[in-house]
Amino acid sequence: MTGGAGYIGSHASKTLSQAGYDVVVLDNLSAGHREAASYGELIQGDVGNVPLVRQVLRDHEISAVMHFAALLDVGASVRDPAGYYRNNVVGTLGLLEAMAAESVRLLVFSSTCATYGEPIETPIVETHPQHPINSYGETKLAVERALPHFERAYGIRSVALRYFNAAGADPDGEIGEDHSPEIHLIPRAIHAATGGEGLQVFGDDYPTPDGTCLRDYVHVVDLADAHVKALEALSETGRSTAYNLGTGTPHSVREVIDSVERVTGRRVPWTLGPRRAGDPAVLYAAAHKAQAELHWKPRFAALDSIVATAWRWHQYHPNGYGSPAES
Ligand SMILES: NC(=O)c1ccc[n+]([C@@H]2O[C@H](COP(=O)([O-])OP(=O)(O)OC[C@H]3O[C@@H](n4cnc5c(N)ncnc54)[C@H](O)[C@@H]3O)[C@@H](O)[C@H]2O)c1
Repeated sequence: MTGGAGYIGSHASKTLSQAGYDVVVLDNLSAGHREAASYGELIQGDVGNVPLVRQVLRDHEISAVMHFAALLDVGASVRDPAGYYRNNVVGTLGLLEAMAAESVRLLVFSSTCATYGEPIETPIVETHPQHPINSYGETKLAVERALPHFERAYGIRSVALRYFNAAGADPDGEIGEDHSPEIHLIPRAIHAATGGEGLQVFGDDYPTPDGTCLRDYVHVVDLADAHVKALEALSETGRSTAYNLGTGTPHSVREVIDSVERVTGRRVPWTLGPRRAGDPAVLYAAAHKAQAELHWKPRFAALDSIVATAWRWHQYHPNGYGSPAES
């Protein structure tokens, strides 16, 4: 697993090891946390380091790769496309080259709804045109487009999982979301509710019921579960494909704030700011394909249940992985 010391990868490694898999994590710790990789052996290194990746694949007799490692801040990707292409595209090509050389032929790839760009139709189906509007989305689409070529030439079969907004945390409160800077709405709202910096809402004049943007929040443990199902389907059928992973039910920014206030019992201080460039009004998934083909059904469909797990993680680890709460 690449990027297994990060938010989604750490949850996937817990789910995988509970399902009986042996997990080896390769992470350069540029954004991850050593403590988050407790469900697999952690090897510190870069996915673009072909000799290192080859050695890891060989030494650990790896049979399949889940590739989470990437940079994912949309705003930063607009300012630094060179860094994003180098890490997300060139790095992934190194990983694929190493897999081809070591005959590792199963890949589950973390893609994103950002590959669709501004939707022309919602809910978004997998066949929706992919026209990213930022370099982050472009880097992910570039990898998706490379995959069929690597399958034809080297036999690497793959599933691209296009996540919508990953949210929530391990219900045990052991692992959770700790990005720096934090770019995601739920942890930022919790931070604001607990005395941190106030929240800024980017625009309330969108053509949505309350004027704020609608997004599809999908629980990180449900994402982890989908990875196990996708890997098992891929190794059984050998059929490469792509799936949207979302609940299919969008929630507005205001609804998320209300949910955080309900769950925490605290007020979320927020101010209204201007719209952000490139924020579509509405993004949510048609998730029927994953449900029908992988028999995947999100367990944490209700927004309050997603927020409750993020709140529990925050209560146990108010400063993220840095310093656990005293108890
Ligand atoms: N968080 C979301 O809402 C979301 C939505 C859609 C897609 N995704 C995708 O899911 C994946 C995981 O996202 P996340 O939220 O867990 O991010 P994260 O930053 O928490 O985790 C990414 C991990 O990858 C590592 N990494 C980055 N570049 C690396 C490299 N070159 N070599 C080795 N390790 C490297 C980082 O240290 C980090 O531990 C990413 O590919 C992201 O694009 C995330």
